[in-house]
Amino acid sequence: MTGQASSRLEPPPAMRTLVAALSLFTLPAFAQEVTRYNPPGVDPKDLPASLALIQPAGRPGEIGGPTFTRTNKGMTVRFDMDVNDLYGGGEVTGPLRRNGTRIELWNHDNWRYLDHGGKRLYQSHPWALGVEKDGSATGVLFDTTYRSFLSMQNNSVTLESTAPALPVYVIRGKNPQEVVARLGQMTGTIALPPRWALGYHQCRYSYAPEREVEEVASEFRKRHIPCDVIWMDIDYMDGYRIFTFDPQGFPDPAHTNNFLHQHGFKSIWMIDPGVKKDPGYSVYDSGNQQDVWVKTASGQPFVGKVWPGECQFPDFTRPDVRKWWAGLYKPFAAVGVDGVWNDMNEPAVFEGTDKSMPVDNRHEGGGELAPGPHLQYHNVYGMLMARATREGLLAARPEKRPFVLTRANYLGGQRYAATWTGDNASTWEDLKMSVPMSLTLSLSGQPFNGPDLGGFALNASPNLWANWVGSGAFFPFCRAHGSKGTDRKEPWMFGQETETAARIALSRRYRLLPYLYTLFERSSRTGEPIMQPVFFADPKDASLRQEQQAFMLGPDLLVVPAWAQHPRLPKGNWKELRLVPGDDGPFQARLLQRAGSIIPLGRVVENTEQESLLPLTLSVVPDASGATGEFYWDAGDGFGYRQGDYRRSTFRARRQGERWVVTESAHEGNRAPDWKRQEVILNGRPLGRQATYTPGA
Ligand code: NOJ
Repeated sequence: MTGQASSRLEPPPAMRTLVAALSLFTLPAFAQEVTRYNPPGVDPKDLPASLALIQPAGRPGEIGGPTFTRTNKGMTVRFDMDVNDLYGGGEVTGPLRRNGTRIELWNHDNWRYLDHGGKRLYQSHPWALGVEKDGSATGVLFDTTYRSFLSMQNNSVTLESTAPALPVYVIRGKNPQEVVARLGQMTGTIALPPRWALGYHQCRYSYAPEREVEEVASEFRKRHIPCDVIWMDIDYMDGYRIFTFDPQGFPDPAHTNNFLHQHGFKSIWMIDPGVKKDPGYSVYDSGNQQDVWVKTASGQPFVGKVWPGECQFPDFTRPDVRKWWAGLYKPFAAVGVDGVWNDMNEPAVFEGTDKSMPVDNRHEGGGELAPGPHLQYHNVYGMLMARATREGLLAARPEKRPFVLTRANYLGGQRYAATWTGDNASTWEDLKMSVPMSLTLSLSGQPFNGPDLGGFALNASPNLWANWVGSGAFFPFCRAHGSKGTDRKEPWMFGQETETAARIALSRRYRLLPYLYTLFERSSRTGEPIMQPVFFADPKDASLRQEQQAFMLGPDLLVVPAWAQHPRLPKGNWKELRLVPGDDGPFQARLLQRAGSIIPLGRVVENTEQESLLPLTLSVVPDASGATGEFYWDAGDGFGYRQGDYRRSTFRARRQGERWVVTESAHEGNRAPDWKRQEVILNGRPLGRQATYTPGA
């Protein structure tokens, strides 16, 4: 390290006692296990407002904290920790266990992860999670948005930052689950998504014109392959002008959306940040009127090329600009758009400095945010854009839960949008890497994520696509995509065998909808990841710490992809869960249910608006003391659940003599059960006379 000054924070003893006593009193419960370390010699009031944290709470750090070193670039912070295994860092290529890795946190448009050896991707999460031998865990959150390098070596985590100074939070927990949940309390959890967002999504760059959208949608229904959403990529626009529609290809977008709605689909349409520099184009003109643009160092609107040619870029650090941006969604939503896809928001600039804008560009800030250079705000450009998009959708349709997907993001950005892992390729390497990538994002506060299923770039073989859908059907975000210039990648384009594999895999996902929705709702309250590493099943078992083929969906279901070779699975009794006929066939992941659990299942539907709970099936795998499980259900959209219109049931199975008695032993919320009928399967078999189900507690 090229340090000039290195020290630890040591406030005077009397002050320490007073602050500690006061903070014990006022800290929220989760923050009792959080310690905040300020850089020495810096008044915390002079540090930038945090964009990662919604609750910047923690006990003031005294001893045993990180080492802060001023460098000629900014500040380097090193935290020594006695841990065996390190995880996190957000969106990364490479292994799940991060010991011995160094990545750059500088959001970057990275096609196929080829630039910078794949060590600089679209998002930045200055965060590491260490798991100790005994299963206890420590998280380290470096609270800065500035360009930085994050390295994890055995027993230390280091952030080399261009930030002049930054605070660090250290989170302790008795297991990694606790630490990740505390991260969620501090940085915010996902908003409860509309239920349809949990279905299967079909995307391509691009379905256009309108007729092609209708054909693809119709084909899903004709072939009885479940699907909830069709996506519109940039070619729907008029010359790539955002918030416009190509008059030839999409003369009547309301008609396209109506068609989709009538067939049980939702529509998601892309919006990029670059506004075409084009006098007479309404978005550009109104942007000029308010002068919403990011400026160069000399104070001119910055101009850079993206799809439409020369563009200007809204300065999302400004509250008035976020409001202006949000307002653009009102007419857009009025034509029946259901969700929005924010892409290219690193921001990507063709032929730009490092594929983006110069670091000395100026952002004006406002509210809590001070004016600052692009060096400071680059990593949150996409997050602030997604925030404004979410706010726009909410203002346009206050009765609906917004759905936004963003490519660029930053620690805490899960509050505003789901994400995908950018431009992967149809290769075995990327299929296999999608598991550790999604797990690492999940351990970094972003549970609602997934890859381009099937691969974006290159052509996919039928075998690869079938294997991908067989395992990808169980990722939190489940969307297939394909690039322009590649062969078509809808499930039926690969021949009969792959189509059948897709139908089975996606039918399994839809049968799991009640369980999935329960996991999403819990995550939105507690920060618990939806997709979890296998070591979560037994954090003390060191042999599971590198498992990155198999994964867990919530705490009760293990997913073992058909392509996994010699996966390390947790000890204990895990019972094969069969969901639909043929799900033991080729390409299908093995699903294993934890002993002691009850998993709620629905029937196979072709979209999530069809009645799923006909019946509600409880899959019971008891251990010696029986089994328990949770099930959350509500209207599926809207905000009635905030007024109690939901039902969170606890189910319990107990043995009484020769029989198993399954009951809804407790419930929360005011909603009557949505299921008219329920069935129980015990250890995979329908219950005969050896069990009863008693409704009501
Ligand atoms: C880049 C995105 O990563 C990709 O998913 C999209 O299809 C293209 N931009 C075109 O909009």
